[in-house]
Amino acid sequence: MIEALSIPKDLYMNDTTANRLSLPPYTIFPEIIGDQILLRQIVSTDVIDIIEISYYNAVRATTIQEASNMQAAINKDYNNGNSIHWGIADKLTNNILGTCGYYRGLATGEGELGCVLLPQYRGQGYMTAAMLLAIEYGLKTIGLKRIWARTNRQNQKAINLLEKLSFSKVADSEADETEYELRPNVR
Ligand SMILES: CC(C)(COP(=O)(O)OP(=O)(O)OC[C@H]1O[C@@H](n2cnc3c(N)ncnc32)[C@H](O)[C@@H]1OP(=O)(O)O)[C@@H](O)C(=O)NCCC(=O)NCCS
Repeated sequence: MIEALSIPKDLYMNDTTANRLSLPPYTIFPEIIGDQILLRQIVSTDVIDIIEISYYNAVRATTIQEASNMQAAINKDYNNGNSIHWGIADKLTNNILGTCGYYRGLATGEGELGCVLLPQYRGQGYMTAAMLLAIEYGLKTIGLKRIWARTNRQNQKAINLLEKLSFSKVADSEADETEYELRPNVR
């Protein structure tokens, strides 16, 4: 299990002078190292372990072939500068616990943050730790001015996560969804 949440004081600060966006793809795929987890690129040998949490356009994979095809589409989006998708790995075993990333809007300075954990790794704080790393990367490296997430109104675990990370509710939208956003403090 990971340590209790502690948000670094300057995590949600953004430097007003840093207005330029640094969009994917990067020369080297960014690996972000935390205390007990790291965010890294998904490789082909990971796919078999993440079939049940492989999604693309809100469709879930049911076979390794579908999950591989989705990963190829995700890689294409990354190469086109539209998204960045990380595997959340245990630092000791390198096993994938879940995934997270930005899936839309990067070119406009806004990123839609998404995340999913394999069921056996939920309720232990892994996603909070992963989100803190992804948020810091989004604000400080990509240069995002707004990070947003959309979830089903009944998805209390996702709402807990977003509220714990200081996201504010923007609006309930149609189709039973609700949207949360994070805007950095400007210094
Ligand atoms: C949304 C989702 C990622 C949240 O997962 P999660 O396991 O609740 O989130 P974390 O890994 O941050 O764990 C936090 C939970 O672990 C508990 N916890 C236990 N030990 C902990 C520790 N050492 N540190 C932090 N939290 C800990 C927390 O109390 C919290 O539980 P609570 O929500 O009941 O208060 C997960 O439910 C999921 O994958 N859902 C399906 C996909 C989805 O809905 N994605 C969201 C789209 S916006």
